[in-house]
Formats: sequence, C-alpha cells, structure tokens
Amino acid sequence: MFTTKILKMAVLAAAVGSTLSFSTIATAATEIKTAFNQSDKHPQFLALQEFSKKLSAATDGRYKLTLYPNALLGDQRAALELVQNGAIQMAMVANPLVENYDKTFRVIGMPYIYSGSEHQENVFTSGELDTLFASTQKFGFEVLTAYTAGARSMYTKEAPIKTIADMQGQKIRVMQSDTMIKMLDCMGGTGVPMSQGEVYSAVQQGVLDGAENNEITYADLKQYEVAPYFSATRHLMVPDLLVVSSDFTSTMSKEDQATLRRLAKESTPVEFKIWNARIESAKKTAEDKGATFTEVDIKPFQKSCQKLQDELIETPEQKALFKKIVNMS
Ligand code: GCU
Repeated sequence: MFTTKILKMAVLAAAVGSTLSFSTIATAATEIKTAFNQSDKHPQFLALQEFSKKLSAATDGRYKLTLYPNALLGDQRAALELVQNGAIQMAMVANPLVENYDKTFRVIGMPYIYSGSEHQENVFTSGELDTLFASTQKFGFEVLTAYTAGARSMYTKEAPIKTIADMQGQKIRVMQSDTMIKMLDCMGGTGVPMSQGEVYSAVQQGVLDGAENNEITYADLKQYEVAPYFSATRHLMVPDLLVVSSDFTSTMSKEDQATLRRLAKESTPVEFKIWNARIESAKKTAEDKGATFTEVDIKPFQKSCQKLQDELIETPEQKALFKKIVNMS
C-alpha cells in the first residue's frame, strides 16, 4: 500500500517534472535576435524563417531566430556593430560591410565574377569560402553563410542606360564600398555611397540620377516610382552574408554550434530557390507600375571593369580565391 503510493507519487512527479521541463524548454528558447534591412516578404526573410524552424526542431526548441525586418534595428552598418559587440546575435549584411574589415572579401563581390546564379550557388555551397568566413572571428563575429541577392543592374530617373556611353556623368547610388565606387568610375559615372534607406528620396530630389540593385529590391522598395528605367547591366552579384556574434556562439555547446553552422549553410540553396522563383513577379510588379526594363549588351560594361582586377586583387589570398571562383564557372 505504502509502496504503491510512493510509486504513484514518483510517476506523478516524473510527469509534472517532464511537463515542467518541457514548458521551461518551450518558453525559455534562446532568442537569436536577427537584424534584416528589407521586408518580411523578401526571399531572404523567408529563408531565415525556414532556417529558424529547422534550428528550433534540431535543438529541441532551445534556439530560435527572432527576425527584425525593415531595418528596425538600424541600417546594415549599425546592425553589424551590434552583432560585433554582442548586443544582438545575428544580422544579414551585404558583403561590402564585411569587406571593410577584411579586403579578401572584396573578391566575392567583384564585378562580373560570377557567370550567373548557378555559378554563384556552386561557389557559396562549395565549402571553399569556409576558412574565409570563419576568419572574421577575430573581429567578434563569424560569417555563417552567404545568400544570393541576385544580379544588380542600373536604374535611372530620366532615360534608360542603353550603352556604356550613357553612363557618362551619371550620379548613381552605390553601397559604402570602395569596389563599387571604383567600378562606377570605370564605367564613366560617379558612385555616390549612401545607405539604402536614403536612396528613394535622394533620387526623387535629384541628388542622384539613379541607383543600382536587383529586381526584387527595386520592386520591394518601390524605387521604380522615382527611377522607372531599369537597364539589365547585371554588373554585380554582391553576396549578402549572415553574420553571428562570437560572444553568442561562445555561450553554445560545441554540438549546438555545429548544428547552427550546418543549418545556416543548408539554408543557402533554399534561399537561391526562393530568390530565382521571385524575380519575374518582381519585374511584373514594377512593370505594372510603369517601369521599363531594357536589355543591354553587357560586353562593354564587362570590359570597362576589367582593369579593376589588377587594381583590387592584390594579395596572394585574393588572387588564389579569385582564380578558384573563376574556375568553378
Ligand atoms: C541588396 C542587398 C542588401 C543591400 C542592398 C543595398 O538589396 O540584398 O543587403 O543592403 O542591396 O544596396 O544596400
């Protein structure tokens, strides 16, 4: 009798205990605050949501991403600093932001280095960038994986860019990147570095003649309203990088760190797929609102950028990586 009672109590305690520990796990999931500068409809946002689900499942609910879209946590430069000092855990930032810390990153954002989306996906998923991506830990963050942001093209306010000669004197917004400023120079225009949030009004007010970006961002941020001539120069395929704070990863077990790194990498092909499926609808959205898309012979543009290779690819690391990437096409 006494033993049965004890047994029942033990079973109950175990059940309560497991419920308790289950609910503790469920409610105490460690939030990975993630900064994102575009909308919650953007392909990268959708891929990050998917990544969060998989991470949560693989860690029994102990980790999940909380995504802050629309630059709620600041522009990419501010977000990277927050990651670096451990105030937030993750951010999606464009390659030039990391290039500011280590010039080897310049290589993966060179004009016309990728022959297309397939080549870029092969490079991002090849494992060849792993050492470079881990090397930024000395700055307090690590690059977990690269996402595509498609191909960037010129778009302008007054008339389409049909040939390289049309670039003469054009003031075009670029990211805060030396490579991009020099690239604009080679094409005959002027690159004006500015953060994404200011572009719309700068074009509207005539401070800029146009900007350059991919079709999805062009449509997402309604930039067709101020610069309706989109010319497919496809001059850059600048990667976006998912960065994580080293302060944060150091709080994780080795096993959880490995899971985080593996699942982040696995989210890259997912993102490519969503990206490629969305380009046409982004173009259509812009066209329906009056944008004109013009095909361009890209050869003269490619040629104008060639001298940048000698100027910007200087160190043995940069040269080796450049060669590897080109050979993968
Ligand atoms: C792309 C890219 C962003 C970047 C933006 C820009 O949209 O995906 O990461 O911020 O270009 O031009 O600033």
